[in-house]
Amino acid sequence: MMQSKSILGLLLSLAAGSTASNLSTNIKNVVILVMENRSLDNLLGGQKTAGIENPINNGPFCNPYSLSAPSQGSACTAASDYNSVLNDPDHAVYGNNLEFYGTFTPNNAAIANGTLVATQKGFVQEQLRLYSGTVNRTVLATQVMNYYTEAQVPVLTALVKNFVTFNHWHSDVPGPTNPNRAALTSGTSYGHGSNDAAFGSYGLPQRSIFQQLTETGHSWLNYVDPKGGTGPDAGFYNWTKTSGNTGLIKPLANFYTDAAAGTLPELSYLNPSCCGVGTNSMHPSGRISDGEALIKKVYESLRSSPQWNHTLFILTFDESGGFHDHVPPPLAPAPDSKTYTVSTPDAKSYTLPFNRLGGRIPTLLISRYVAKAKVEQKGTNTSGATVSYSASSILRTLGLLWGFAPFNPRVSAAPSFDGLILATARTDAPVTLPASTPFRA
Ligand SMILES: *[C@@H]1O[C@H](CO)[C@@H](O)[C@H](O)[C@H]1NC(C)=O
Ligand SMILES: *[C@@H]1O[C@H](CO)[C@@H](O)[C@H](O)[C@H]1NC(C)=O
Ligand SMILES: *[C@@H]1O[C@H](CO)[C@@H](O)[C@H](O)[C@H]1NC(C)=O
Ligand SMILES: *[C@@H]1O[C@H](CO)[C@@H](O)[C@H](O)[C@H]1NC(C)=O
Ligand SMILES: *[C@@H]1O[C@H](CO)[C@@H](O)[C@H](O)[C@H]1NC(C)=O
Ligand SMILES: *[C@@H]1O[C@H](CO)[C@@H](O)[C@H](O)[C@H]1NC(C)=O
Ligand SMILES: *[C@@H]1O[C@H](CO)[C@@H](O)[C@H](O)[C@H]1NC(C)=O
Repeated sequence: MMQSKSILGLLLSLAAGSTASNLSTNIKNVVILVMENRSLDNLLGGQKTAGIENPINNGPFCNPYSLSAPSQGSACTAASDYNSVLNDPDHAVYGNNLEFYGTFTPNNAAIANGTLVATQKGFVQEQLRLYSGTVNRTVLATQVMNYYTEAQVPVLTALVKNFVTFNHWHSDVPGPTNPNRAALTSGTSYGHGSNDAAFGSYGLPQRSIFQQLTETGHSWLNYVDPKGGTGPDAGFYNWTKTSGNTGLIKPLANFYTDAAAGTLPELSYLNPSCCGVGTNSMHPSGRISDGEALIKKVYESLRSSPQWNHTLFILTFDESGGFHDHVPPPLAPAPDSKTYTVSTPDAKSYTLPFNRLGGRIPTLLISRYVAKAKVEQKGTNTSGATVSYSASSILRTLGLLWGFAPFNPRVSAAPSFDGLILATARTDAPVTLPASTPFRA
């Protein structure tokens, strides 16, 4: 099946005057950095580049303080968020439900048949439910509704102005970090909807990108910030341990020396540290400026690496972290038949069927083989339909690069982004990025 497809692809590209896809010709090394817990409207909400649908270009967007008592007033998106957001917004499965649908227990059948569409109006109420005992409501609403200006995030602003930014990229699971990190690296959370103990103990049985690459003779390393707090994502999988490959999990410092030496593997997968002040994933209360320093260091290491010429750097996030975003998550095929059931704060039970995506998150493609300042809208799935991108788009595209079939129906249905890789390299990628400095305490 894959075989005949790639022969067809080859014939088509011969007919179009080239011999192979731009992706397979030009990209030899992929670097993936998965940051933590920020929505597009929050982190890129102040980017003025045309085509990014966000508060500064399309807002303001507002949420009521109380969904049931609108007379209490509302809070709207506004410029300037805190460098360190002290009150971590809710990003549990039920928290996402309240933020998107206004209830902890939305009707799954109505979501699936398209009659119940998320309104994205519950972010402020949920932040007040968690923290209004200790912090005033103006501060709480500002935390989740406000956005970072271009000046507050100079590193991201420079990347947006130089490379490709996705306008419609969603997390795969409307829930927390590890289920989303598993979906990014294996196409499914395998029914996990919380950060349970399996993730830290090689407890997931499904095939991962790490197993796939090793078994087909491709190289990878999972570089991990030693402060910990995320991953190591290769350590989620039973295979990593039983196959004797735990040694492919390395300290982040090795990434910088490998980049300088030109010895990065075909896939470098980077886990940042999480989650308090002094960590670098941008997860509250970690500072945005510290996350920007990490992104700048990774970029500049790649830019000056002997491998830069054929590198694709994918900068993305795990999930939207409870920060406001105005775009309702779309439906997507379930990866498998697993479900996740959780008790909600209003003492009910909710079962997630994994047939829809989570919040919209920032994702950028960075390489000398992508267009300058391009904003990508939706992608195209294999039936030719226009659909939103998600974390599964990474596995879909890596399958085209390294010749493997989609792991499951979610990945099959995800649009690839190989079409964004250019035939000819640009020569104007900046060598350095601006420095980020601490702001609004
Ligand atoms: C959609 O599902 C809901 C919940 O099961 C049901 O009440 C409604 O009639 C359905 N509508 C359509 C158009 O199928
Ligand atoms: C909320 O707290 C902030 C910061 O402490 C303060 O500046 C503001 O006046 C307070 N607002 C209200 C309504 O109490
Ligand atoms: C977002 O942060 C929380 C930690 O507060 C974590 O539990 C979740 O897995 C992270 N992704 C998140 C962080 O949802
Ligand atoms: C992981 O693999 C080991 C060895 O095969 C097995 O004993 C263990 O039960 C597996 N754990 C899980 C959670 O699948
Ligand atoms: C990268 O490409 C440039 C041309 O764009 C070339 O001058 C340079 O030698 C290449 N670097 C390496 C390490 O191949
Ligand atoms: C492509 O998307 C359309 C619209 O969502 C859907 O009906 C179709 O099944 C999808 N095709 C594949 C192969 O997933
Ligand atoms: C390769 O990139 C060129 C632009 O550089 C583009 O015209 C062409 O469509 C791309 N090919 C594929 C298969 O995406």
